[in-house]
Parts: sequence; structure tokens; C-alpha cells
Amino acid sequence: MNEQRKASPAELSPEIIEAQFAHASAVARFFADRGMVGERAPRCYVQTFGCQQNEADSERIAGLAVLMGYKLTDRPEGAKLILVNTCAVREHAEKKALSIIGQYKHLKDADPDLLIGVGGCMVTQKHRADQLKNSYPYVGFVFDTGSIHTLPSLVHTSLGGGKRSFNVGESTGIAEGIPTARAISYKAWLSIMYGCNNFCSYCIVPYTRGRERSRSPEAILDEARKLIAGGAKDITLLGQNVNSYGKDLDGTDFPSLLRSIARLDGDFRVRFMTSHPKDASDALIRVMAEEEKIVRHFHLPVQSGSDAILNRMNRRYTAEKYIGITERLREAIPDISITSDIIVGFPGETEADFVATMEMLRRVRYDMIFSFIYSPRKGTPAAEMADQVPHDVSTARFERMLALANEISLERNRRFVGRTVRVLAEEVSRTDPSKITGRADSPRPIHFTADPSVIGQFVNVKITEADTFSLTAEMV
Ligand code: SAH
Ligand code: SF4
Ligand code: F3S
Repeated sequence: MNEQRKASPAELSPEIIEAQFAHASAVARFFADRGMVGERAPRCYVQTFGCQQNEADSERIAGLAVLMGYKLTDRPEGAKLILVNTCAVREHAEKKALSIIGQYKHLKDADPDLLIGVGGCMVTQKHRADQLKNSYPYVGFVFDTGSIHTLPSLVHTSLGGGKRSFNVGESTGIAEGIPTARAISYKAWLSIMYGCNNFCSYCIVPYTRGRERSRSPEAILDEARKLIAGGAKDITLLGQNVNSYGKDLDGTDFPSLLRSIARLDGDFRVRFMTSHPKDASDALIRVMAEEEKIVRHFHLPVQSGSDAILNRMNRRYTAEKYIGITERLREAIPDISITSDIIVGFPGETEADFVATMEMLRRVRYDMIFSFIYSPRKGTPAAEMADQVPHDVSTARFERMLALANEISLERNRRFVGRTVRVLAEEVSRTDPSKITGRADSPRPIHFTADPSVIGQFVNVKITEADTFSLTAEMV
């Protein structure tokens, strides 16, 4: 990295990172002294729940494990280090993580040398860190979302027989220079900022990820260049609210960062998520329309179509304002794919509020939506609101919405039939091994017959068929 660059105000000092690298070397020596290198290297299993931000964090978690001399494995059995990266966004996510951590007890019973650490959004809540400390005695340590860089010292201490560690909420700085271990080279996450300041009234994320902190543009561009040089063809810029990027920095903002990345040399494309409608500016729409390497897809969560609900959600826009953004987007980029997140059954949601959300779907015509039944999160304002919607009511509304969303998706997908599009061939199809699955601008997977050697490359395919959830194509 360029030593002269201006650091982001949130950045941790290089000494802090170097101290961690020293711990990592000590751990690697510990294993080397015991002949645990090469094929005999201890295995580390990193398990990830939650969003893309967690996926990106796990790449750094894995990178640090490799630095400590571990070899990565895709199964918990036989591992000497298990690191679980958890999510807390809905109750179900926490239940699942806790149940899996529970199952690891028998692995620890069978191998007392196994170290188990838990990180991510769930343990960043103090009550969960305390719960693990008190009820899961075989868990050695937790590391919160701001402390990933401290993994080497946590592992080093544990290997030396030191005390279990359950501190959370101590570090919020940005750690630059942490190595990453990526499973595939042609798709890459690139975190550009951390945290969220929006405090939507239902959401736990501002509590588990802290306040917004932007990485310096130089650090981001430097990483982007390295990713492209390493073969990345599809780069996703990540943040809880990417379009408020740079508000804590001088002289930059999201549209200009996006433009700089889109203008880097190389055959790649760039996308970003997630955007908050209140910060979706005309400048951003312009950059998207002008820069060819930016994917024609905008994930713009609306959450609800009712102004009363949006207000109680603390979303700070109205349904009309949101529709205005999507209209300007479609005017500038007629073929753009718009997708959304929607919460059904927010406290106080009436049938009329729900119908307003259905109306929003009909007006915007989303390519795809991610819909969720509202889940009360401890410590958030919405969890204390009166009129929690009964589960059977939410479920019935959820089903109605899904039916409409699918109908619209199918109609939207049909626009592609007959067109030739450029796709990144991503993997062998999970349902039909004779096919390759890739994606173009639309988030929908495209299946086509091709030799697996095309994986990781851009190819032109002609769409022959559209379903609700996917497209079929042939190579041209
Ligand atoms: N920062 C992103 C993503 C946040 S979490 C954004 O603002 O869009 C992803 C989605 O989970 C949210 O968009 C929301 O639709 C959903 N979600 C968040 N909290 C929830 C809760 N308590 N219950 C149900 N869904 C929730
Ligand atoms: Fe949660 Fe709202 Fe922040 Fe998204 S913008 S992470 S929904 S508080
Ligand atoms: Fe879950 Fe945390 Fe992401 S709560 S959705 S892992 S930011």
C-alpha cells in the first residue's frame, strides 16, 4: 500500500496491526515446532452466516488463519480451529448459529485441543457474548465485528492455555492490511465502509456494526487494482449503506468513488450494495448511466409502501419520493434491474398498509425482492412498539406478496428472451451438471450448456427461455 496516502480518520495505527502479525507468527511457530506444517498443518474451519458483509469479513478471518499456519477446510470434523461468523438480523439467524455452536460440543469433547471462537453480529451484542461465556464452556473466545484483526492474539492466548475471552465493543477502528483468503478469484467482495447510522427502528445492525466509518479512497482503489490483477471479473462494493460513503471523509463521496473504480483498467464489472433511498442521488444515477463497467442493477430496499409504516420504521422517505428515484433511474437506464428488501408484518401494519406495499410492487415492477417477516430484535425501538402483528397474519400477507412478486419477476425476466447478453460464467449448475450458471446485469441466474473451462470468463449467450427464478440460454 502507498505509504503516503491519507489515512481514514477511523483507521487503526499500523503498530496495532503489526502487533497482531507478531502474534500470528508466534502461532505459526507453535505449530512448526510440533511438525504441524504442510499436509500436517492444523485445519481451520470458518463458518459464515448472514450477509455479504459477513462473507467479506470471513475472507479476512480465513486470511488471518492462513497467516497463523492453519490450512482451511470446508468441514468442522478434524479441525483444530473452528470460527463461526454469526448474524443477528432476525431471530432465526441467531437460533441457527446457537444450535450449530451447540453441536460443536461433541467435537470439543472428542478433541480437547480444538479451539472454538465465535464472531460476527450476534456476539457483538453483550447479552449474547455473556450467554456464550456462561452456557457454552467449550467456546474459547468471541471476537466482535470491530475486532477481527485481534484473532491472532486471541488464538495465541488460547493455545498458551490463557483465559477465555468474551470482551466486545472495545474496538471500532478500521484495520487495513489484513490478508484475505478467497475461495474463488473471479468474484470479489470489496468493503468500502463499515457500520450504519440510520437506526431503522426494526434493525439490529447499527448496534452490531457501530457507526459509519469509510475506508480511504486510496486504500479501496489499491485493493480494487489488486483484485483485478488477481483475476477478479465481478467486484461488489459493500457497505450497510454504501451511498453514504465518504460523509466522514474530505473531498469524496460514493458517486466519485464508484466512477474511479469503474475507470480502472481491466475487463471487469462493478456492482454495489446496499443503498438507502434517502441517499440515492441523481449524481449516482448519472455515474451509473455513464460508466459501462457498472452493472445495470440497483438494489434499493423500500421495506414498505405505506408512509405511516415508513415513518415508524424511521426510513426518512415517503413512497412517492421512493417511486421518484426509481422513475429517474429507469429514465436514465431504461433496462435497469431494480430489486428490493421488504418487511411484512411490521408492528401496527394494517391491511391498508400492506395493500400499499403490494401497490408499490405493482408500480416499481421489481426484478426480484427479498421479503422478510418482521422479527423483533432486543434493544431496537420497534420491538417495544404496541400492536405487534400476529404471526399468522404476517405469514398470510407474506404468501400473498410472494405470489405477486413472482408474477412480476416472470414478466420482467421475459424481456430478456431473444437477447444476447454478456455473462460471467460462475459455476457448474447445482441442479444440472451439464450446464454452467452465470449472471449478466440482472441478478437472476442464467443456465447454459458450455464446457466448464469457461468458468471465470465472460461469454456471450442468447436467452432462450425465462422462468420466475432463472433464465436459460445458449452460447453464441
Ligand atoms: N443495510 C442494508 C441491509 C440490512 S439487513 C439495508 O439497509 O438495506 C437486510 C434486510 O433485512 C433489510 O433490508 C430488512 O429488509 C431486513 N431486516 C432487517 N431487520 C429486520 C427485522 N428485525 N425483521 C425482519 N427483517 C429485517
Ligand atoms: Fe439496518 Fe436501516 Fe442501517 Fe440498513 S439502513 S443496516 S436496515 S439500520
Ligand atoms: Fe446479519 Fe450482521 Fe449482516 S446482523 S445481515 S451479518 S450486518
